[in-house]
Amino acid sequence: MMSSFSSILAASLTIGSTTAAPWGPQWWGGPKPQWGGSNNNAGQSSGINVQLGPRPYYLVNNMDPGPLKDKLESCSEGPFKTSTFSISHRGAPLMFPEHSRQGYVAAARMGAGIIECDVSFTSDRELVCRHSNCDLQYTTNILAHPDLAAKCSKPFVPYNATTNTPASATCCTSDITLKEFKSLCAEMEATTFNALNVSTTTTPNFGRIGTTPDWRTNMYSYSCAEPMSLKDQITLVDSFGVNFTAEAKTPQIPMPFQGNYTQQDFAQQIVDTFNEMKIAANRVWLQSFLPDDIFYWLANDDSFGVQAIYLDERADLTADGYDVAVASLPGLAAKGVKIISPSIWQLVTADNATGKIVPSSYAIAAKKAGLEIITWSFDRSGPLEIQGGGYYYTGVNNLINNDGDEYTVIDVIAQQVGATRIFADWAATVTYYANCFGL
Ligand SMILES: *[C@@H]1O[C@H](CO)[C@@H](O)[C@H](O)[C@H]1NC(C)=O
Ligand SMILES: *[C@@H]1O[C@H](CO)[C@@H](O)[C@H](O)[C@H]1NC(C)=O
Ligand SMILES: *[C@@H]1O[C@H](CO)[C@@H](O)[C@H](O)[C@H]1NC(C)=O
Ligand SMILES: *[C@@H]1O[C@H](CO)[C@@H](O)[C@H](O)[C@H]1NC(C)=O
Ligand SMILES: *[C@@H]1O[C@H](CO)[C@@H](O)[C@H](O)[C@H]1NC(C)=O
Repeated sequence: MMSSFSSILAASLTIGSTTAAPWGPQWWGGPKPQWGGSNNNAGQSSGINVQLGPRPYYLVNNMDPGPLKDKLESCSEGPFKTSTFSISHRGAPLMFPEHSRQGYVAAARMGAGIIECDVSFTSDRELVCRHSNCDLQYTTNILAHPDLAAKCSKPFVPYNATTNTPASATCCTSDITLKEFKSLCAEMEATTFNALNVSTTTTPNFGRIGTTPDWRTNMYSYSCAEPMSLKDQITLVDSFGVNFTAEAKTPQIPMPFQGNYTQQDFAQQIVDTFNEMKIAANRVWLQSFLPDDIFYWLANDDSFGVQAIYLDERADLTADGYDVAVASLPGLAAKGVKIISPSIWQLVTADNATGKIVPSSYAIAAKKAGLEIITWSFDRSGPLEIQGGGYYYTGVNNLINNDGDEYTVIDVIAQQVGATRIFADWAATVTYYANCFGL
């Protein structure tokens, strides 16, 4: 463990010197930006020549007429810069395989001030960026590697057309070593588990158990997209001069792992990794859905704990979860939680009398409790024409009917709810808004 750490640290220390950047010259296409280069440099701005591409313009054009559209149109010519309001969710998974180097690079170019690694661990207890402990079967090509597929907790079972049973497999990061993990290719998240086989070249599955939704693209996964360890991700994100958010994933495998690796050891290892990489705690927003992780960090690593993000999905788990969550907010604040992070839908509601989207009782209670609010995730819903945007727009689906409505909701969340940051699967959308409103 130490030797691999030392070599990665050595790599990180060369960033900012005159040696070539490790990801190659094609990244810049221009002069190297002039940020400080020290990886403990709070207050620096990224210096990246931010490019937002056509999507924000498409969304603004698609909006219903009104003052918000006018305001957003008035910002069309920029200038655009990195915004700390804009958090990259899993890299840039609207178009790039999630948690891949290529996706993180895209997010930095799109002005994300904070880039996320969802943290899981391997069999040799190295930390890697994956959205779940056990999602390799639908976010990588592991099933196309017979030797590694044989290590999966549960083997591949093809889609059964007779019974209409989805294809299945369970392949956990903890089933394989870091070296094996790095030998995989990151793939677009499969959402329809329809694989009949997992051959790499003759099927649209690319070693996954299913296929990509038609509103994303496989364009950037034909050549191998690189999955990353947390250390590699920190080195890369630091090289952009932007900040970090790392989520301790809720375990899907029995803990303690290997008999003695507890959830607390895992939470601590994340902190230790940032400390080893010499990243100042005020550049790191740790997250967890598990309140015990937040309280652990507050009790043991206060400098990380004070800006830890409590991800709140209680409203999705039980019928009274929303009310329970709202009622709990003052108590959480009293226990030291500073930042609460519910999904978008929990923060907004439909005022059907006026046809307007307004802050929810959750948003009002969170503000009253003095909690900072961050929400997730825009550009994850596909076309908003379908079912009023679906899950993330629950409660306001009846007021959503075109893609441009995304900016209406972002505006309510920024201006009326008062959220301080927003996660998005395509950072450009939020960066455009943030730049336009000086956030
Ligand atoms: C990163 O975080 C530091 C400390 O909170 C802050 O001063 C800096 O502006 C942030 N950088 C970006 C790009 O958001
Ligand atoms: C599909 O399921 C049916 C019913 O359980 C079973 O008889 C059949 O063998 C399955 N087909 C495959 C290809 O496994
Ligand atoms: C693999 O599945 C695809 C459809 O997903 C099918 O066209 C192809 O024939 C299958 N290949 C083998 C070797 O079974
Ligand atoms: C944890 O258990 C592993 C074997 O699974 C052993 O190698 C290691 O020394 C143990 N660590 C501690 C801190 O007890
Ligand atoms: C607004 O109207 C929609 C559609 O009838 C309904 O589903 C929703 O519950 C209403 N919202 C509120 C807050 O009354």
